[in-house]
Amino acid sequence: MKAEMIKVDPANPQREIMEKAGRILRGGGLVAFPTETVYGLGGDGLRPESSSRIYRAKGRPSDNPLIVHIARLEDLFKVAAQTPDGALRLAREFWPGPLTMIFPKNRAVPYETTGGLESVAVRMPNHPVALSLIQAAGGFVAAPSANRSGRPSPTLAAHVAEDLGDEIEMILDGGMVGIGLESTIVDFTESPPVILRPGFISREMLASRIGQVELDPGLDRPGSGPPKAPGMRYRHYAPQAPLTIVEGEAGSVAAYLNRLAQEESQAGGQAGILACDETAGLYRYGVVKSVGSRRSEEDIARRLYQALREFDRERVSCIYSESFHTPRMGQAIMNRLLKAAGYQSVLVSDYKD
Ligand code: TXA
Ligand code: MG
Repeated sequence: MKAEMIKVDPANPQREIMEKAGRILRGGGLVAFPTETVYGLGGDGLRPESSSRIYRAKGRPSDNPLIVHIARLEDLFKVAAQTPDGALRLAREFWPGPLTMIFPKNRAVPYETTGGLESVAVRMPNHPVALSLIQAAGGFVAAPSANRSGRPSPTLAAHVAEDLGDEIEMILDGGMVGIGLESTIVDFTESPPVILRPGFISREMLASRIGQVELDPGLDRPGSGPPKAPGMRYRHYAPQAPLTIVEGEAGSVAAYLNRLAQEESQAGGQAGILACDETAGLYRYGVVKSVGSRRSEEDIARRLYQALREFDRERVSCIYSESFHTPRMGQAIMNRLLKAAGYQSVLVSDYKD
């Protein structure tokens, strides 16, 4: 592994470490760092060569734009050409935090960073390490999630090392992230604004501050046109084995999966089953993982990607997941699961052994 892995205090990042990381970014290098959502792969957002290196390191198509991360509200005006009142209200309310907003870009932002678009995505992350790194780097850090393109986003530094350890200069290890799903993205180049990617900040939270907010119709319904965020068009967040979501009442789902998982092992494979604390005990075959209690949607969001990665490591031949339509983050959780499953889902009812 080429990347230097450095443990950093997530609450009070050590100054020497952050200065060293900042020097790497200012010199055109790449540093992975923790945010409150997922780990990011940072480069200087105003340097075209840095953004090009990010695409190469991730194996990411270069028409998929990067988010520019800032640490001070006034820096928004250096990269965005127009900032509607609603967006500023959201910035004051939710930044630093898991919200990304899209604006017409101004000339400071190279097309390499925006994937050739005239707009720029901007976010102020709520994590001391991320904020300190942005400042040390000069204010503007372009950062996609720090996974190899198509894989689940990293929630631990070890996931970054697994995917990108040979490609980048440094990984700042600040422990496990808090939220575990990427930020909510709201497009302010449209009026009313449009949610391009659901996240911790829900549509209701946004609407209660600024009124009408639309949901990109291309998001969860294949066939209703491509999603507006280029990155939401690719199969994404995906483990290596094929994933199917199984909907239905818990007893029926368990009976159905017990049969499928038994058949899988008779055929020489092994099924992975993504369950919750309430149901994990019902499964008798395969590798069963719980993402936590259904009473804590935060736990489910936080552990989802890690569980998908663990199935890869354990080399299961197929994965089945329960569905998680939880009250507030359910939209974001199911959006990621459905994409990871390539929209494969089945509904079982009244199924018995
Ligand atoms: O939580 C997050 O947002 C994490 C952390 C590291 O901040 N970052 C992240 O970046 O998830 P990434 O690159 O994995 O996802 C960014 C998404 C992509 O789907 C991309 O297509 C979309 O944002 N996006 C970025 N700029 C855009 C633009 N100008 N117009 C439309 N979509 C844009
Ligand atoms: Mg990503």
